[in-house]
Amino acid sequence: MPSITSHRRRAIPSTDELYDRVRQVIPPIEWATMVDDITAIWQLKAEKRAVILAHNYMTPQIFHGVADIVGDSLALARQAQDVDADVIVLAGVHFMAETAKLLNPSTTVLVPDLRAGCSLADGITADDVARLRQEHPGVPIVTYVNTSAAVKAASDICCTSGNAVQIVERIATRTGNDHVLLIPDQHLARNVAAQVAPRGIGILTYAGSCEVHDRFTPADVRQIRQDHPGVTIFAHPECPPGVVAAADLAGSTAHMQDYVEKHRPRQLALITECSMSDNIAAAYPDVDMIRPCNLCPHMKRNTLAAIRHVLETGANEITLDPAVADGARRAVTRMLEFS
Ligand code: 13P
Ligand code: SF4
Repeated sequence: MPSITSHRRRAIPSTDELYDRVRQVIPPIEWATMVDDITAIWQLKAEKRAVILAHNYMTPQIFHGVADIVGDSLALARQAQDVDADVIVLAGVHFMAETAKLLNPSTTVLVPDLRAGCSLADGITADDVARLRQEHPGVPIVTYVNTSAAVKAASDICCTSGNAVQIVERIATRTGNDHVLLIPDQHLARNVAAQVAPRGIGILTYAGSCEVHDRFTPADVRQIRQDHPGVTIFAHPECPPGVVAAADLAGSTAHMQDYVEKHRPRQLALITECSMSDNIAAAYPDVDMIRPCNLCPHMKRNTLAAIRHVLETGANEITLDPAVADGARRAVTRMLEFS
C-alpha cells in the first residue's frame, strides 16, 4: 500500500499494475471501461509535466488509478507548496484548488469541474467574517480551510480537521485570549470545544455545516454497533457531536488512514464520505469495512473524463485576485507554521 501522502510520480505503471491496486473494489468489467481514460491521463501527465493531487474522497479509479499525491486537506496543502511541476490538477473541490494556487502561485492549477463547491465554503462570505469581528472585538478568528480565499483573507489563521485543536490552542496562547472564533463549521467547532474546554478555552462559532457529515445521526452509530458487535467506529469531526461521542474515535481522513495502517482493525466503519471506505477497502483487504455511506456530490463531480479533459485543454484554471490571494496566503501559511 503506498502511503496516503506519498508522492507517487514515476514511470508510467502498466494498467495491470494499476488494476492490482483496485481489484478489491472495481469489477473487471467496469475497469475495462476506464482503461482508455487512465492510459491517456498518465501519458498527458508525462507530456505536460503535470501532477494530480487527489483528496481522500476521490473514487478508487482516481485515487489509486491516476493520482500522484493523495491525502487529507492538510496534506494536500503541505504538498502543494513543494510540487515541482508545470501543472497541478487538483482532484477535489474548489477551495482545495484555491489553496494549492495560494501556496504555489507560479504553477498552473486546474480543477476537473469548476462547479465542485462545498456547503461549508458556500455558507459564509468575507462580509460575514467582518461582522463577526465587529461583534467580538479582539477574539482571534480561526477559519476552517473549507472556505473561499476571500473568507480566509478576512480571518487570522486557517485550520483543517487534522490540526484544528492544535491551532485553536496555539492562537489562544499566542494572543492571550480565553476565547476563539472557529468558523464556519458548527459541528467541528463543538467537537473542538469539547477538547479545549479542559484547558480553559471557549469556542464561539457560526451556523455552517457539511451537508454530507451533518446527515449522520447517533442512532446510525448505535445501529452499526448493534449489527456488528466489536466493530471499530471512526467518525469525522464534521459530524454532529452526538455522532462523535457515540463513535470510538474521531479525526481527519488522514487520521483514519493512519489508524488503519497502524492498528489493522478486524472490522471498521468510517462515518464519512463513501469513497474513503472504498479506498481503504482497496488497500487493506484484510479489514472488513462496514460502509455507512453518504456521497459528497461536489467531490463526485471529479471523473476520469473530466481530469483527462482539463489535461488535454488546460480548461478550468484557478486564478485569484492578488490582494485576496495575499491575505489568504497569510492565513494558510500561518497555519502551516503553527502545525
Ligand atoms: P479532511 O480530509 O481534511 O479530513 O476533510 C474532509 C473534507 O470534508 C474535505 O472536504
Ligand atoms: Fe464540503 Fe462536506 Fe463535501 Fe467536504 S464532504 S467538500 S466539507 S460538502
